[in-house]
Amino acid sequence: MDTFRQDLFRGKVLFCTGGRSGICYEITQTMMGLGADAAIVGRDAKGLEESANKLSKATGRKCLATPADVRDAKAVQGAVKATIEKFGRIDFVVCGAAGNFLVPISGMSENAFKTVVEIDLLGTYHTVKATLPHLRESKGAYLHIGVTLHYRGTPWQAHVSAAKAGVHALSRVIAVEEGPRGVRSNVIAPGLIGDTGGWDRLSVKDYDPSKGVPLGRIGTKMDIAQAAVFIFSPAAEYITGTEIPVDGGDHHLYRSPLPYPKSVLEPESMKSLVKAKM
Ligand SMILES: NC(=O)c1ccc[n+]([C@@H]2O[C@H](COP(=O)([O-])OP(=O)(O)OC[C@H]3O[C@@H](n4cnc5c(N)ncnc54)[C@H](OP(=O)(O)O)[C@@H]3O)[C@@H](O)[C@H]2O)c1
Repeated sequence: MDTFRQDLFRGKVLFCTGGRSGICYEITQTMMGLGADAAIVGRDAKGLEESANKLSKATGRKCLATPADVRDAKAVQGAVKATIEKFGRIDFVVCGAAGNFLVPISGMSENAFKTVVEIDLLGTYHTVKATLPHLRESKGAYLHIGVTLHYRGTPWQAHVSAAKAGVHALSRVIAVEEGPRGVRSNVIAPGLIGDTGGWDRLSVKDYDPSKGVPLGRIGTKMDIAQAAVFIFSPAAEYITGTEIPVDGGDHHLYRSPLPYPKSVLEPESMKSLVKAKM
């Protein structure tokens, strides 16, 4: 990527939850490509180690695998401790670990709702609490990976909409409380992004999601990584407490990929179209 200076993040350290795969892997690789070292967090210790090795090989920077379940405050504190022991600082934090699946609220178990809220929202809280002293020291920045789903009532996404709305709210409060100490906090809200875990779980058979996106295509992981680089760069030093939809304008023209109202009146009839829990 040549939009940004090659050594933009030299000497800086990124702590990224969700960095094993998908969008957050791409953000980590792009930040490392611009000179940052990184620690990535996820539950799959073996997969995490493989991703960390791949990231180091691709960028020539150091990447530490710090396995943790973000639902477990102590585990996240352990990952932060290991990062500080290795690199001595944390400048940037991406809160990106998340879970999602399609399910109408009528079929959503208490456990399903709770699990998504615990990973997305409580996990973000744990990550912020464990990293805040280090971000105060470095006058660093948070980037939360949100969604556009809760801008409207998106069917079959009650759990994620509720959890991520909480993340967006949390980010605004962090911006206001920590701004005077030099810490920034922002949200990027991706639209549907191709070649990701989210894409695999949420795509609907025979539905072309690029139709109706004002910019005429679905998003790429690099679209999100470029926006993340901007948010962490000095070019965004006066930007905090905001959210940037990176969705080609999609949320302005929202429509459900599932036939409406059939999907909510007859959820079982959608079985051939989606991987969903009913
Ligand atoms: N893909 C999209 O179209 C889209 C659209 C809007 C927003 N987003 C947001 O973008 C982010 C990345 O999405 P993606 O589709 O790229 O995801 P993905 O490839 O499925 O990756 C999710 C990551 O989160 C980690 N994770 C899940 N639960 C965890 C837990 N309890 N503790 C620690 N780590 C956990 C996973 O690692 P382990 O399995 O190793 O734990 C995995 O690396 C998410 O915040 C998502 O909500 C995605």
